[in-house]
Amino acid sequence: MAMASPPACMVACFLLLTLVAPALSRKSPDAGPLSYDFYGRSCPKAEEVIRNVTEEIISEDSTMRGTFLKLFFYDCFQTGCDASILLNQTDSNPSSEQEKQYRQTLGGFDALNKVKAALEAICPGIVSCADIIALTARDSVMISGGFTFAMPTGRRDGLISSQWSTTELPSPLDHLPELIKKLTAKGLDIDNLVALSGAHSFGRSHCSSFPDHLYGFADPTFNATYVNDLRMACDQDFWNTVVNNSPVNPNHLSNRYYSNVQSGNTLFTSDQALLNRSDTAAKVAFYAANQMFWMAAFGASLVKMGSIQVLTGSAGEIRKLCNVTNSGN
Ligand code: HEM
Ligand SMILES: *[C@@H]1O[C@H](CO)[C@@H](O)[C@H](O)[C@H]1NC(C)=O
Ligand SMILES: *[C@@H]1O[C@H](CO)[C@@H](O)[C@H](O)[C@H]1NC(C)=O
Ligand SMILES: *[C@@H]1O[C@H](CO)[C@@H](O)[C@H](O)[C@H]1NC(C)=O
Ligand SMILES: *[C@@H]1O[C@H](CO)[C@@H](O)[C@H](O)[C@H]1NC(C)=O
Ligand SMILES: *[C@@H]1O[C@H](CO)[C@@H](O)[C@H](O)[C@H]1NC(C)=O
Repeated sequence: MAMASPPACMVACFLLLTLVAPALSRKSPDAGPLSYDFYGRSCPKAEEVIRNVTEEIISEDSTMRGTFLKLFFYDCFQTGCDASILLNQTDSNPSSEQEKQYRQTLGGFDALNKVKAALEAICPGIVSCADIIALTARDSVMISGGFTFAMPTGRRDGLISSQWSTTELPSPLDHLPELIKKLTAKGLDIDNLVALSGAHSFGRSHCSSFPDHLYGFADPTFNATYVNDLRMACDQDFWNTVVNNSPVNPNHLSNRYYSNVQSGNTLFTSDQALLNRSDTAAKVAFYAANQMFWMAAFGASLVKMGSIQVLTGSAGEIRKLCNVTNSGN
């Protein structure tokens, strides 16, 4: 396994999070209709197989670390965590989520299909694509951040995917009021916003996602030196160039994000926006100084995000292939 050596707090954080985060979220009504070991009897090896295939995919392509986590975010914010983000365009989905502007910056669909194929080989028709997205995201956090937590399962797969739902997704140009509005609409709160934004400590982004830096209307809290570096990096090819989300240690998910926000070294207005209110700025400072508290809050917030508008019981279906509904249209 070509993995970076785990940070020193791996063991302690694992203990903290396995004991604390699930206990917190089990009590939380936000865990909703999901459960912590949904496949315990129907497919006991499901989580182990997902972890193994996720590790294998990431060891072959480290850019998949961020891709797995981002897909979970994009899926959950558009008609809920129902794997609608994976559906190809068809007659009944003439303009799927993928087809909208985010397509060029998404990816990882083939990787999800690969994980699904490994599960179909051991328990056909049992494990939903929506749960696979959630578990690959959780496992990427373990691989990229060195901490882990239980992720409830039992999501079912959606039947429709519409490009119009992309308006529910926060935009990198959003300021705090819009961000809060969009998260509140999904049942998430301000602490979830601050904690989850820490995902931007790693991974990569396209220059086209931060036009404000490049065209001179950047927020004054951005670091001028950094803005200059970005301009140079993006100069050649605005649409296809990707840059690291963090100027430091870009493959490692950590609370480094919060000191990046404080020094103005982030890519998005939505990142710097966290400094614009005293309560969110105080949380930025707190997470910058307290890595373990951030890890616990990040895990708990990701579990909460993972319960947005989920389909359970007999709603939706369990897809055979992640890119197409079982009826094929
Ligand atoms: C709060 C509002 C958020 C906004 C406005 C936002 C926006 C964006 C944008 C525009 C990109 C760059 C896409 C590209 O150009 O390729 C990005 C990257 C990323 N986002 Fe966010 N995001 C937000 C929250 C989140 C959350 C909640 C997560 C997950 C917990 C997340 C995880 C990521 C990751 C991992 C990447 C890097 C992807 C990669 O390496 O391929 N983001 N985000
Ligand atoms: C997962 O990987 C581990 C370590 O390589 C291996 O021992 C285990 O058998 C694998 N599990 C499955 C279900 O493939
Ligand atoms: C359908 O989705 C697969 C992966 O899920 C992707 O590789 C392929 O390009 C898509 N095809 C079309 C026509 O969009
Ligand atoms: C800009 O970023 C550099 C490099 O991280 C840092 O040394 C400097 O203090 C930052 N400037 C401000 C005003 O925060
Ligand atoms: C912060 O607030 C100021 C004044 O209200 C505003 O001009 C600025 O655009 C805001 N910055 C962000 C990143 O939201
Ligand atoms: C789904 O993906 C498979 C293989 O990855 C491909 O053969 C098939 O055409 C895709 N279905 C649709 C509807 O694009």
